[in-house]
Amino acid sequence: MSDLGTPHADTPVTLDGRRTSLPGGRSLAAALIAIGHPATRLDRAGRPRGPYCAMGVCFECAVTVDGVPLVRACQEPVRAGMCVETGTTPDRAHPGATRTRGTPTPGNETGDAPVPGDAVESPGTGESTMSERWDLVVVGAGPAGLAAAVTAARHGTRVLVVDEQARPGGQIWRRPDPASPGPDPLAAHAYAAGRALLAEAAATSGITFRHGTTAWGVFGTRTTPDGFAAPGSPVPAGPRLAVHGPAGVQVLLPRALLLTAGAYDLPVPYPGWTLPGVLTVGGIQALLKGHRTLAGRRVVLAGSHPLLIVVAAQLVHAGAEVAEVAFAQRPPGPGVLARALGALAGNGPKVAEGIAALRTLRRAGVPVRTGTVVVRARGEDRVTGAVLARVDRDWRVESGTERHVPCDAIGTGFGFVPSTELARQAGCEATWNGPAGGWVLVHDEAMRTSLPDIWAAGELTGVAGAEHAVATGRRAALDICRSLGVVDGAALDRELRTARREVAATGRMAELLDRTCAPDRAALTELADDDTQLCRCEEVTFGRIRCAVRDNPPQATADAIKLLTRAGMGPCQGRMCGPALTALLQRETGVAPAGIGPLAARAPVKPIPMEALARAHDDLP
Ligand SMILES: Cc1cc2nc3c(=O)[nH]c(=O)nc-3n(C[C@H](O)[C@H](O)[C@H](O)COP(=O)(O)OP(=O)(O)OC[C@H]3O[C@@H](n4cnc5c(N)ncnc54)[C@H](O)[C@@H]3O)c2cc1C
Ligand code: FES
Repeated sequence: MSDLGTPHADTPVTLDGRRTSLPGGRSLAAALIAIGHPATRLDRAGRPRGPYCAMGVCFECAVTVDGVPLVRACQEPVRAGMCVETGTTPDRAHPGATRTRGTPTPGNETGDAPVPGDAVESPGTGESTMSERWDLVVVGAGPAGLAAAVTAARHGTRVLVVDEQARPGGQIWRRPDPASPGPDPLAAHAYAAGRALLAEAAATSGITFRHGTTAWGVFGTRTTPDGFAAPGSPVPAGPRLAVHGPAGVQVLLPRALLLTAGAYDLPVPYPGWTLPGVLTVGGIQALLKGHRTLAGRRVVLAGSHPLLIVVAAQLVHAGAEVAEVAFAQRPPGPGVLARALGALAGNGPKVAEGIAALRTLRRAGVPVRTGTVVVRARGEDRVTGAVLARVDRDWRVESGTERHVPCDAIGTGFGFVPSTELARQAGCEATWNGPAGGWVLVHDEAMRTSLPDIWAAGELTGVAGAEHAVATGRRAALDICRSLGVVDGAALDRELRTARREVAATGRMAELLDRTCAPDRAALTELADDDTQLCRCEEVTFGRIRCAVRDNPPQATADAIKLLTRAGMGPCQGRMCGPALTALLQRETGVAPAGIGPLAARAPVKPIPMEALARAHDDLP
C-alpha cells in the first residue's frame, strides 16, 4: 500500500442537510473520516462519538441514512444521492425507547420497551413462505467459513454463505472495492493462502454467497417458553436462521448450520476512550485494508497483541506517521521464547510478515516500547493526543511516568473476543476460557456444538489465528458431509486424518499467543476511573457499576448488573462492555467469570430495522 493522500470526493450526497461530495468506493464511515469528519453521533450530553471497531460490532458509527436510523456507517457503502444525517443522540435514534420499565416477558426480562431493532422472539413451528432450504448454511465468509464451504461443496453439498461484509475474506483477508484504484492489500506473501482460498471459493460450483446480510437469530432449537430447550427435552424442527439483507428479512432452513462468526478486538476502556479518533487496532486496519482510508495522519498504537506491529507497518506503508507502538508486556524470557519458536514452526509466512513489519518500523524510526500502556486519550471533540505511561511487570502503572504524545488517532489491540452471541442465542453451550478470548463455544472433536445440526469453527471456538480457523472449518465441513450422508468410506477417512493433523498443528498458535500476549484483564480494569464509561451505548460508568455491586451484595452475575444499571442493553448488546464488565465484577466480588456468566444473548443479536421485521412478520417462523 502506498501513500493514500487525500481521496477524491467524487460521489454527490446530502450530508446533514448540505449538498456535498464524499469519496466513493468505501464505507460511509471511512469516507467521513477521510474528509475530516470523524464524529458520527452524539451521546446524551451532546458529546461527539465516532467509529470505534469499524467492523460492524460497536454501533458507535450509527447514522441516519435516507430516513432510516441506526445504520452502521462502517457497513454502509457510499452511494450517489444518499441522504446522511450524523449527530443523532441515542434518544432520537431510538424514538420508541422509553427509560421506564414495563412488564418482563420471555426474551425481554427487563421489561424494557422495544427499541427499533428489538424483536420479541417467536420460535413457532410452521414453515415460512419466505423460507429457503439449503444443505448447509455457513454464517461468516472468513477463513473458517470459506474453508468449510469449499470442502463441503467439493463433496456435492449445496452451500449458502452469508456475511455482513460486502466481500468474502473475513477480518484477515479483507480487501477494498475492486473498482477503487490502488494496490491489493493481499498482494503480500503472507496472504498467499488467503488469495488461493478466495479464488477456490469463487471457482467452486455449489457455493452461493449472500453479502451485506446479517444473521440475527436462530430459531427452532428451543422448546420452553423462556426460549431455552429444557435439559433432556427433544429439540423441535432443527435450526432456522433468520437473516436480514438487501432482500429484507429471510428465514433459511439448513439441514446443517455452521457458525463461523469470528472475533472482534477486545474493547479496553480508559479515560477518553469514547472520543472520535480512538479505535481498535483492528478497526484502524479495517479502514486501511477494506477502504483505503487512514484513521489518522499521526497514530499511536497500544496493547499487547502482535497485530500492533503488522498494522503499524501497514500504516507506515500507507503514508501515516506512527508516533509510537506501545506494548504493555515486557519482552518474553528465553524459556518462553524457545517454546514460542516451537509453536511457530511451520508458520513461516507469519514469522516473515512479523520480521518484515519490524524492519519497516525500524527504517521509519517508529519507537516500539515495551512495559508501556495508554492511560488517557486527550481532546475535546476528537483525539489530539495520547497519554502513555510505564507499567511494572504486573501491568500496574508507575506513577510519575506519564507523558503526552500528540496524535489524531489511537488504536488499542489487546487480543480478540469470540463472537459467540448468535450461537449462545441459539442455545449452544459456551464456556469461559480467558486465554482463548473469553466465552468460547463448547464443541467436540468434529466441531459439533452442544446442539444437534449446529457446528462451529474458527475463532468462535477459541481465538487461535487464521490457519487454525481454516483447519477447523475443514474439519467441521467433513463431519457435516458425513452427517448429511454425502461422503463416507476410505476417502473420507483419509481426509479426516489430514484434517485432524491440521487442527492439532495449527492449534499451537493459540498457545503461543497465550504465553506472550494474553491481556492482564484485572490490571486493564485499573486504567478506568469512576467516570469512565464502561457501557458506551447506555453511558454507564465504572463508578455506577461499582455502586450497583456495593449496594446489592449478592448480585454478581453480568445479567443481574445489566438489570440494575442498563449496561449491555444498547445496540451493541453488550459486545463492547461485556468483557470489561466481567473483569470488573471479578475484581469487585472475587467471583470467577464462570460464576459471573456472559450477558444473555437475545434475538435479534444485532439490531435490524423494525420496518423490515414488520414487513416480514407474517412470514417469520
Ligand atoms: C479486526 C481484526 C483484524 C485482524 N487482522 C489480522 C491480521 O492482519 N493478520 C492476522 O494474522 N490475523 C488477523 N486477525 C485475526 C484473524 O482475522 C482471525 O484469526 C481469522 O480471520 C479468523 O477467521 P474466522 O473465519 O474465524 O473469522 P473472521 O475472519 O472474523 O470471519 C468472520 C466473518 O463472519 C462475519 N459475521 C460475523 N457475525 C455475523 C453475523 N451475525 N451475520 C453475518 N455475518 C457475520 C463477519 O463479517 C466476518 O466476515 C484479525 C482479527 C480481527 C478481529
Ligand atoms: S464502527 Fe461501525 S459498528 Fe463499530
